[in-house]
Amino acid sequence: VIVCVSANPSIDKLFEVDRLVAGAIHRPVGFVQRAGGKGLNVARAAASLGADVCAVAMLRGHAGAWIRDALAAEGVPGSFVWTSGETRASLSVADRAEERLTEFYENGEQVPADAWPGFARAVVEQLHAASWLTISGSMPPGSPDDGYAQLVDAARRAGTPVALDAAGAHLERALHAGPDVVKVNRHEAADLLGEEMATEERALAGARELRARAGADGHTGIVTLGAEGVVVVGPDGLELRGHLYERGRYPVGSGDAFLAGLTVGTERSAGLEEALRLALGSAAANAELPGAGRLDPDRAKSLAGSARVVRV
Ligand SMILES: Nc1ncnc2c1ncn2[C@@H]1O[C@H](COP(=O)(O)OP(=O)(O)OP(=O)(O)O)[C@@H](O)[C@H]1O
Ligand SMILES: [Mg+2]
Repeated sequence: VIVCVSANPSIDKLFEVDRLVAGAIHRPVGFVQRAGGKGLNVARAAASLGADVCAVAMLRGHAGAWIRDALAAEGVPGSFVWTSGETRASLSVADRAEERLTEFYENGEQVPADAWPGFARAVVEQLHAASWLTISGSMPPGSPDDGYAQLVDAARRAGTPVALDAAGAHLERALHAGPDVVKVNRHEAADLLGEEMATEERALAGARELRARAGADGHTGIVTLGAEGVVVVGPDGLELRGHLYERGRYPVGSGDAFLAGLTVGTERSAGLEEALRLALGSAAANAELPGAGRLDPDRAKSLAGSARVVRV
């Protein structure tokens, strides 16, 4: 079972308008609403690829109940921890004329002090059956700064491989707890390391540095470069770059689909290079369909077949 941490899920709403004008009234010509947040996107993508998953999500209020029901309708199993308040929502507005997306992300309200310990316990309860623990995205305000570090630590003690995709202070703290895999995009890597990942060489040095901070030998550092692909330093220090020529129009959530492909690939005991190809295929398949973490598994596999992974 791939256990996917979703500490701060969100109802993701997409409005489509002919043209977005600040200060004007808009009547959207299209509207979709989905259970979102990075952890749920990973769970959805991994489930689409045929893996057994369990999304551990902190849910709140009526919006939380909506997410629970939406996941059930999609066939994504979860373990839910309830706390007071309301689950947040995020709004994206697609401007058809400009083909531009304008996004509004709620931080979410503070959670009570006992929410995180209860959530961490629910994650630990799933570890016995877990082939992977994935930790993605933000934590709700009011969670401890070392919250993700606690989860990495628990997974390491349970002998469960753990993959981390976070940003800022949470990333920094959790990295020191020694995740098996750290996967961030070039902007998150630049924020942490204090240097722009402007070239592939620089990004590879960034991946090396992330791996070193996670504990070096036995750990994998990954920096994704949007449509340009990915650079990876593997557990034995092997340096790889991965690339796909196909580009999709909907890359939101491609990082989450990438993580899903990588964990599903290694769960099926593929080597790192083969798992990377499935990660690239899944990420590109995600970019071909609207909706974060949505992908056609057959398309992901066929794209994986045309992904290029080369040793640097
Ligand atoms: N337009 C695209 N078409 C095809 N594949 C893409 C595209 N954009 C990104 N990818 C793939 O997805 C991977 C992750 O992309 P990116 O670096 O944008 O992650 P991210 O910023 O974490 O995304 P998100 O947080 O929205 O999930 C890349 O390494 C690449 O393989
Ligand atoms: Mg990301």
